[in-house]
Amino acid sequence: MDGNGRWALGRGLPRVMGHRAGIKSVRATAELARELGIQILTLYAFSVENWKRNPREVATLMRLLDEYLRRELPTLMKNEIRLSVLGDITGLPQGVREHLTQVMETTKANGRMTLNLALNYSGRSDILQAAKRISAEVRAGKLKESELTETTFSRFLYTQDQPDPDLLIRTSGEQRISNFLLWQISYTELYLTPTLWPDFGKPDFLKALVDYQQRERRFGA
Ligand code: FPP
Repeated sequence: MDGNGRWALGRGLPRVMGHRAGIKSVRATAELARELGIQILTLYAFSVENWKRNPREVATLMRLLDEYLRRELPTLMKNEIRLSVLGDITGLPQGVREHLTQVMETTKANGRMTLNLALNYSGRSDILQAAKRISAEVRAGKLKESELTETTFSRFLYTQDQPDPDLLIRTSGEQRISNFLLWQISYTELYLTPTLWPDFGKPDFLKALVDYQQRERRFGA
């Protein structure tokens, strides 16, 4: 969800107004994904590296997240959406963490769509935490090294049993991965658009999906 800062600065507004405006796109994309029967939507909301930003911007992002969780819970329930987090939530402020835990618990039986929020997330930290837990299980005799396959490894990642993403959309014209789902995107189709995240609405999402439908996926075969 890139381009919030530039969207705001381009209008002579403070950067955080771009994040606020970005919530509208979060709602629109979640709503369309659910309408179209997409089973998993993952939004990269806050990376491990984002802690390096101005503390006031970080605090605003945490507050927006908290507001979003409070306001959207009835919609998540009505639309049968399960909220899940990818990332280390122990590193988030206590209030946000409690709220997230509560929303995850309340929505856990919802089966129509999973909305993953990547928070305090990075692809490398994900792989590292998986490696540490795997080595602990091997040392404890719960897992044999010979049983360690790509499928087993995947189960230790934050995405657990979720399938790899089919499509990765990056907004704002940047052409990099920025530490997102590094393990999981080995054969994911990429869609890069110059549209800034707050301007990314349902028509843009549909355009990306139609583009995806034209792709021929061979997975190296
Ligand atoms: C990147 O744009 C965006 C973020 C770091 C945060 C995304 C957060 C939201 C859309 C709001 C809160 C999220 C939820 C799920 C409620 P940028 O600031 O790097 O933009 P720039 O590259 O133009 O500076």
